[in-house]
Formats: sequence, C-alpha cells, structure tokens
Amino acid sequence: MTIQTIATTPFSDQKPGTSGLRKAVSVFQQPHYLENFVQSIFDAIGNCTGATLVLGGDGRFYNRQAIQIILKMAAANGFSLVKVGQRGILSTPATSCVIRKYHTLGGIILSASHNPGGPNGDFGIKYNIGNGGPAPEKITEAIYARSKVIDTYKILDSQDVNIDTLGETKLGSMTVEVIDSVSDYQALMESLFDFDALQQLLTNGKFRICIDALHAVTGPYAHAIFEKRLGAPVGTVMNGVPLEDFGGGHPDPNLVYAHDLVERLFGEYAPDFGAASDGDGDRNMILGRKFFVTPSDSLAILAANATLVPGYAGGLAGIARSMPTSQAPDRVAAKLGIDCYETPTGWKFFGNLLDAGKATLCGEESFGTGSNHIREKDGLWAVLFWLNILAVRQQSVEEIVRAHWQEYGRNYYSRHDYEAIDSQRADTLMKNLQGILPSLPGKKYGSYEVEYSDNFSYTDPVDGSVSTNQGVRIGFTDGSRIVFRLSGTGTQGATLRVYLESYEPDVSKQDIETQQALGDLIQIADEIAQIKVNTGMDKPTVIT
Ligand code: G1P
Ligand code: ZN
Repeated sequence: MTIQTIATTPFSDQKPGTSGLRKAVSVFQQPHYLENFVQSIFDAIGNCTGATLVLGGDGRFYNRQAIQIILKMAAANGFSLVKVGQRGILSTPATSCVIRKYHTLGGIILSASHNPGGPNGDFGIKYNIGNGGPAPEKITEAIYARSKVIDTYKILDSQDVNIDTLGETKLGSMTVEVIDSVSDYQALMESLFDFDALQQLLTNGKFRICIDALHAVTGPYAHAIFEKRLGAPVGTVMNGVPLEDFGGGHPDPNLVYAHDLVERLFGEYAPDFGAASDGDGDRNMILGRKFFVTPSDSLAILAANATLVPGYAGGLAGIARSMPTSQAPDRVAAKLGIDCYETPTGWKFFGNLLDAGKATLCGEESFGTGSNHIREKDGLWAVLFWLNILAVRQQSVEEIVRAHWQEYGRNYYSRHDYEAIDSQRADTLMKNLQGILPSLPGKKYGSYEVEYSDNFSYTDPVDGSVSTNQGVRIGFTDGSRIVFRLSGTGTQGATLRVYLESYEPDVSKQDIETQQALGDLIQIADEIAQIKVNTGMDKPTVIT
C-alpha cells in the first residue's frame, strides 16, 4: 500500500454554507471534487499526524463511496485511528457524542441534512471540531481558502475497508475501528433522562407514541431506544430503515414533509405523542394528539420544565436561540432570572456559549433543539426530553402547551419559504430592503408601528468575533417581528425565508389558526419587501 500524491486543480465553489458543503450528488461525483475538499479540511486543521477522527453519515446515496475515499485519505494524511460508524451510519448528534466521549481531534459528517437524497438528490460534508460542534467560521474560511489554491491531495492506494463488521482493521499504518452506531449515544441519553419513568410510560398500555424516522438515519437509534430499551411496541417507529434516497421523500420533520405522521396524529384513534426527525437526526418535530408544537415553543417549554428532568435538575445556566426563532424562550429566561442569547442562524454560533457554560439549552425555529450534552442539535434528545416531562406531569402535550401560554403568553409563529428563486432577484429584494431600513422606524402599517429595523449583527460574547449581515429584522412596538434572510443551505438558486411572529397574552385569543393570527403581518411583509413582485411567486413554496 503506497501513499499517492495526486495532482488536482481547485474548484471555485467549495465555500461551506450554514452547515458544511452541500451540493448535488453529481457535483460531488466529479473527479477530485470530494478529495479536494477533504484535503482542504486536513490542510486547514493541520495537526492530523497521530490523531483520531470520527467518521460517519446519514446513509444517503454516495455515503459508502465517500467513506472509503476519506478513510484512504485519512490514512495517507497521517491519522492513526478513524472511528467509523457501522455501515457508515452515524447521526449528527451521535458523531458529536463520540467526538466528545473519546476526545478525538474532530469528525467528518456526511450529510445534506434534510435535503432529499439519491442519485439526483444532494450530498454534503462537514467538519466538526474537538468539542463535538461544527467548525467555527475561522476554520470553515481556512478550508475554503485552501480549496481555492489546492494542487495535490494524498490518498492511500489500497482495497476498500469492510465497514459492515464491528472491530478493528488496518489501513496502512492507520487503524479503522468500526463502532456500533447507537451504543455511545444511547448511554449518553440514559445518563440524562429517567429511563425507568420512560419505560413505565411507554408500557402502561395507555400512552401511545409514534416516531417517524422518514427512512433516514434516526431509524436504528429509535428502534434501539424506544422499542428495544424502553419497551414500546414494535411498530412504534415508522419508516425506520435508512434508505439511500429516503424512499424518495424529503427527510424534513415538518407538517409538510412528515405527512404520514401528521395524518396519524391528526386522524382517528390518534396516538398521544408523535415525533419525526430529519436526514441526519439532528432535527425534531413534536406533535401531541391533534396538536402541533412549534419548535420555538418547544424550546421555551423544555426550558420552563427542565428541572423535572434528571440531567437538568440543577437548573439552567442560560438559554440561546437563533435570531429568527420566536421570543417565547426569552420570556422563560426572564422569569427564571437567567440570560437568553440571540445568535445568528446556524448551530455553530451556540458552541462558544455552551463551552463557556453560559447557555444550557439552545434552539432554532427550524426544528432544532439541543443542550450542552453535545455540540449539535439533537432530534431524539428532544423527544426523550418531552417524554420525560410528560411522564412526570401526567398531562397531555396540548395541556402542557396551553398551560405554558396561559402563564407566559403565546407567540404566534410561522416561517414562509420561497424556494429556488433566481439568485439575482433574491439579491435585489434583500438590497432594496436594506436600502429602506433607515426609513422604517416610526412608520405605521394599520395598527402596527415599526419600532426598529436593522440588519442583524452578532458579537460573540466569548471570543468577540463579529458576524454581520445575518438577516433583516423589523420589530413592531407590540413585540411583533418580521425577519427576512436568504438560506445558506439551499442548493438551487436562492431561498428567501420570511419569519413572522406576534405576541398574544390574552388567553381568550390564543386559539386562532396561526396563518390567520399572522394575517396582517404577512401582508405587511409583502408590502415592505415587495415579495410577490421581486420573486415572481404569489405564495410561499413551504409554510412551517
Ligand atoms: C437552515 C435553518 C437553520 C439550520 C440549518 C442547518 O439554514 O434555517 O436554522 O441551522 O438549516 O440545519 P438556512 O437554510 O436557513 O441557512
Ligand atoms: Zn439535519
């Protein structure tokens, strides 16, 4: 087995986005494309010799081929050990868990998260650092800089490695250890939650749950934890076998894409609790019987009830939410007398706050919730957290949410996405919006008066780094908000995201259908940003 140095030329489009490098599978299949990016990661991080790496992915098309390439490149770049998930499967939260548990240099996750997979779908790769979290911008920029000038990469000339059987093999002088994809993660969950109480809840014959893995990575984890360990009936997990194309579906846990689950939870003889996760297992959607919990409310409710759960019984240091996430968690933080941090979109901005012990729970409106147990959002963790609360409170999901609204008020919330719009048109919309920002404060739209308008900029309280241009915020005097930003994870054209939020403290007005409750704000958003004119679309492609 010899180390080959292969000549290559740079690709100009290897700039990591909100969460790593995501492209169509066909882009990744170009000769040298994946190799260039992997070598750029290794060059940017620098200290690979003798180091340990974690490697796995969500099982999507091209996962297995990519793993073989990366193993051979890791061996050629001097790593001494790679821990790879069996059959190439490791969810994003499980990868973060394994990196932290074994103190590895970092890890590579192969996933395009909630984007569809298969030969015509998307693929993705991201690097996580030693704290288990996504590489911060400093590192992703170094990777990108390197990718622009790269002229060679190193790869071991060898046979493929068996990644289906647990145990160790040698690849040159490097050890490849195939690890069980679930066990480390499951042990961590058992250390945080009251598994006895959960087992009682799930086997009492009265309380029924349904978990939709959407044919993505969560299947093996959900089978092991809910059915095998906690005793829920076989069949509790639906779509539990990971498929390379996710069964042709869109592995995104929201009301639109998790339609099988939604039908069950809103149908006759509905279970008491339902949840879905995404392609790589870091997102979650929580449903009660005929009841949807918004991710922003979910974060607020987990925070308000955290001391009921063993792993958080000592209370929270603080809460962090991404800027477009509703302000429901802020109200809980205020009552608890703890800080609530507002960060730009993307999990990487939570890392420093978690490392510094400033925040314990964090979340995003995009169905992401997590805590300081790892450095990624964590779908099944959120499900277990909810079930633990339900086991203690012995109330339904709806009762818990309504009681929360009664105490804190309700933040009506929705996100409208305009997908695959022409990039130039999207840029024009954002530029125009930026141009009128200074003129908005004081302006009235019906009963709404603009209190502030800005382009969100964030100064990290730990390392002082500044991230500008993180989305346009328009706040109204009654606490309502409209936020506009362009997606950093889409792979076709541009995606405009419009986030709408209004606050309702009056219990008698907390039962309005969400789009109706936000109707005025939806119109104001169009009036201010001229969405229809600028996108050429008369309605959003996805509403969550
Ligand atoms: C989206 C979500 C964001 C999340 C990211 C990765 O990014 O909005 O909250 O962190 O996916 O899962 P966006 O496409 O908006 O840049
Ligand atoms: Zn994901």
